[in-house]
Amino acid sequence: MALYSEKVMDHFRNPRNVGVIENADGIGEVGNAKCGDIMKIYLKIDDDIVTDVKFETFGCGSAIASSSMATELIKGQPLSEVLKLTNKAVTEALDGLPAHKLHCSVLAEEAIQSAVKDYYDKNGIAYDPAQFPSLDHDHDHEEE
Ligand code: FES
Repeated sequence: MALYSEKVMDHFRNPRNVGVIENADGIGEVGNAKCGDIMKIYLKIDDDIVTDVKFETFGCGSAIASSSMATELIKGQPLSEVLKLTNKAVTEALDGLPAHKLHCSVLAEEAIQSAVKDYYDKNGIAYDPAQFPSLDHDHDHEEE
């Protein structure tokens, strides 16, 4: 049985939304200390809707496929929905990832939340930190 689904291979080979948005409204950059992979997400936001999204990922194939799928899932969505995107949803949309590669999809969830938080910070929009559960790094240390 193949280790990676067709969808993972497709998004790895033909990643959607690769690149940079000049004058992005929100930028999120996160990394995983263990594997050293880095993911950066750029958002263009109009009226609370993600009108454009691009990513740059310096990382493994699963991280690239996760970023690609995550950008597709949030494009055109209101921020309220964008903040609900979990790594589980990204993984499911990819028809699964091997267990030791699940952390790659976590990067996508974190990078997106961090980009929305950046947008809120830059625009002086009030928020509750609980809206960004994946950015709670104390929690990260507890994991494994
Ligand atoms: Fe770390 Fe994939 S191995 S993001």
